[in-house]
Amino acid sequence: MKNDIGEAKGKLAVLIPGMGAVTSTLIAGVEMYKKGIGKPFGSVTQMQRIRLGKRYENRNPLIKDFIPLSDLNDLVFGGWDIYDDTIYQAALKCEVFAEEQLRPVKEELSRIKPMPAVFDKKFVKNLNPIIMKKAKTKMDLAELLMKDIKDFCEKNKAARAVGVWAASTEVFIEESDVHTSLKKFEEGLKKNSPYISPSMIYAYAMLKMNVPFAMGAPNLSVDIPAMMELAELNHTPIAGKDFKTGQTLMKTIIAPGLKARMLGIKGWYSTNILGNRDGLVLDDAGSFKTKEKSKKSVLASILEPELYPELYSDLYHKVRIDYYPPRGDAKEGWDNIDIFGWMNMPMQIKINFLCRDSILAAPVMLDILLCMDLAKRAGLKGIQEWLSFFFKSPIHRPDLIPENNLFIQHVKFKNTLRLIMHEEVLDHSGLDYYENRFKPIQAKPPKKTK
Ligand SMILES: NC(=O)c1ccc[n+]([C@@H]2O[C@H](COP(=O)([O-])OP(=O)(O)OC[C@H]3O[C@@H](n4cnc5c(N)ncnc54)[C@H](O)[C@@H]3O)[C@@H](O)[C@H]2O)c1
Repeated sequence: MKNDIGEAKGKLAVLIPGMGAVTSTLIAGVEMYKKGIGKPFGSVTQMQRIRLGKRYENRNPLIKDFIPLSDLNDLVFGGWDIYDDTIYQAALKCEVFAEEQLRPVKEELSRIKPMPAVFDKKFVKNLNPIIMKKAKTKMDLAELLMKDIKDFCEKNKAARAVGVWAASTEVFIEESDVHTSLKKFEEGLKKNSPYISPSMIYAYAMLKMNVPFAMGAPNLSVDIPAMMELAELNHTPIAGKDFKTGQTLMKTIIAPGLKARMLGIKGWYSTNILGNRDGLVLDDAGSFKTKEKSKKSVLASILEPELYPELYSDLYHKVRIDYYPPRGDAKEGWDNIDIFGWMNMPMQIKINFLCRDSILAAPVMLDILLCMDLAKRAGLKGIQEWLSFFFKSPIHRPDLIPENNLFIQHVKFKNTLRLIMHEEVLDHSGLDYYENRFKPIQAKPPKKTK
């Protein structure tokens, strides 16, 4: 890890496959923030403070003042889609913000037009493309993307770039031979292997250009051995997958609490209604299977039924998503949790979360892209597991069990920032405060916080 990360100087190109609801909500929010008409609530990097040193030192800077992140004024957004709507039109269509909220940033959002996508209907069945790239081989498509990246950075005089996937969820595929090494993958690109998805082509293009890449959907993409090899080779960070928002965020908040108190769980039934384009895509069984796997994976690693069979081995976990157009982006989720306690007595918890999908996802995407740029500048490469805090289905080393407990992920995230900045890693045991309890502690006066 480098000791001298230095200031995040110059423009940061943010390159996004998929310029729909989440992307337009993110960009609209950043532009509103720049004009002083909105606050980045929900963004950990922008709003949260980090404790440094001992509790009596009163050092609690904002994360964005502690680590050298790009300033939001230095972000330049670009990306690809299969529809040619400007970001303003995309924002109007997804109806996250009302027209009058978007009016002050209309000019800025209207300037951002998607580049033609790399798309294959076999991987996203419910959408029909208007603009897309055509080429003989998948390798040619990857090269066209690399040219887009290069041209965008040159045109915008960007000092660095970072990529985040916010395009649709692709159909469920499993790792196959072509994914197992970079050599085989590159041969597959040249021979148009049917097992190489568009999201893998984007991931390959980004990593070839040394651009850190995070996967915001649950697609099998950057988490295949070929991509991990390329990321290591090019000293570039990768992360994913599937932004942790909505129902899964709730699940990873509640399950660790129940487990911490050794309360058993018999069943967890989760259902959602969702009416945006994401909901339409997930109405296809193949895309839903990818999402279902990602949503269902969290409980086992938090509850560890192999260690606590009496409490969690009989847990019945069901996840449903129903496409319901009248609701648009304002998703509604219901959870019924059947739990049991002392002497096996049953209890129930009901959750009805009336959320806004993209309002939860936009700040997560912002934090991810800023941290991925930081990781690259800090000399980190390959899987960035410390960013698992932001993902439903964290990419991890194959021999490790992923950490899905939001609170452990939070500690991991903050301690990694402390490590990067050469501050003391905090274990929160607090024993050291009491070891010399008869010696008066020289407390520093509290520092004024900004
Ligand atoms: N909103 C959330 O809370 C949330 C949470 C976790 C994950 N996600 C995932 O994030 C992604 C974006 O969500 P959204 O609500 O913005 O969806 P959206 O449908 O509004 O936007 C996705 C966009 O991607 C485009 N697209 C599809 N295939 C493409 C390709 N190959 N290249 C370029 N563009 C392509 C679509 O045309 C669409 O405009 C989805 O995969 C979703 O599952 C969203």
